[in-house]
Amino acid sequence: MKISNVTVLGCGLMGSGIAQVCAQAGRKVTVIEVADDLLKKGLGGIEKQMAKSVEKGKLTAEAKEETMSRLAGSTRLEDAAGADLVIEAIIENIEEKHRTYSALDKICRAEAIFASNTSSLSITQMMTATSPERQRRFIGMHFFNPVPIMKLVEVVRTILTDPEVFQTATEFGREIGKVPVQTSDRTGFIVNRLLVPYLLDSIRALEEGVASIVDIDNAMKLGCGYPMGPLTLGDFVGLETTYYIANIMFDEFKEKRFAPPPLLKRMVMAGLHGRKTGRGFYDYSDPQNPVPMKLL
Ligand code: CAA
Repeated sequence: MKISNVTVLGCGLMGSGIAQVCAQAGRKVTVIEVADDLLKKGLGGIEKQMAKSVEKGKLTAEAKEETMSRLAGSTRLEDAAGADLVIEAIIENIEEKHRTYSALDKICRAEAIFASNTSSLSITQMMTATSPERQRRFIGMHFFNPVPIMKLVEVVRTILTDPEVFQTATEFGREIGKVPVQTSDRTGFIVNRLLVPYLLDSIRALEEGVASIVDIDNAMKLGCGYPMGPLTLGDFVGLETTYYIANIMFDEFKEKRFAPPPLLKRMVMAGLHGRKTGRGFYDYSDPQNPVPMKLL
């Protein structure tokens, strides 16, 4: 099956990045948001991101215009009707996802593949909102932030996924310039199963006085060659997101390594969510020069 028309649901950080890479790879993309202002903000972000690449000489102005011309925005779910593949990147709320998938199932063609970009909710649970035929065409496609830069996509099958659909989605991941890895529907897939305990352990190390924020980050950055230290990465992902994922993983596996440490819980309660709220393990008042917070 050839994937020519893609619908992306949600035009936030992840949805806009996914829409951009699909359009850059020559696909016609419809991005659907719940409100006009969110749609404008998302599409504006894509344009800005590509304008920067043009400025740096990494993209031609023509290629940017061509990509933008392949992107259409909408606030009507009905506009997903022509999609070969729907990639959903809406809010991580199972009730909202169920409502959306149930409506989408009636709008889309029988052959359309449904893919969720969820990082921690169960693909199997989401799939139950659709018909038995669609359940065979339901997968996860989990991208990483920032989507235009990060090369990975996790392609996730359930116990009911048609093997051909799984292969088609994997091939599509390759065609849009990503390196696909295949996995099955277990909370956290591959990356978060390994990443989340690492991020939580770095917070436990801070809590236990092993070292300062900056020294923990520098240790992993310079000692292991990671592009960001774990506390900087927590701020980048969002501490409320990290906390949310950790809770779901703890609930699934009942293992201590997924349990969110008390400091993380308190930071989330206090509104220190990382870069997006201006403060987390660092204060981003000057975004070029983050200053470590005094938390303990
Ligand atoms: N969007 C698009 N492009 C971006 C960007 C963004 N948000 N941030 C940086 N870039 C681009 C820059 O423009 C730059 O491009 P050029 O090479 O063309 O100039 C390039 O990325 C490198 O950026 P910088 O030089 O500013 O900084 P850097 O070298 O530190 O790279 C980074 C930034 C790519 C984010 C890098 O630090 C990195 O890889 N960090 C780790 C990110 C990571 O682990 N992401 C996964 C998070 S987990 C997740 O997403 C899933 C989940 O379920 C929680």
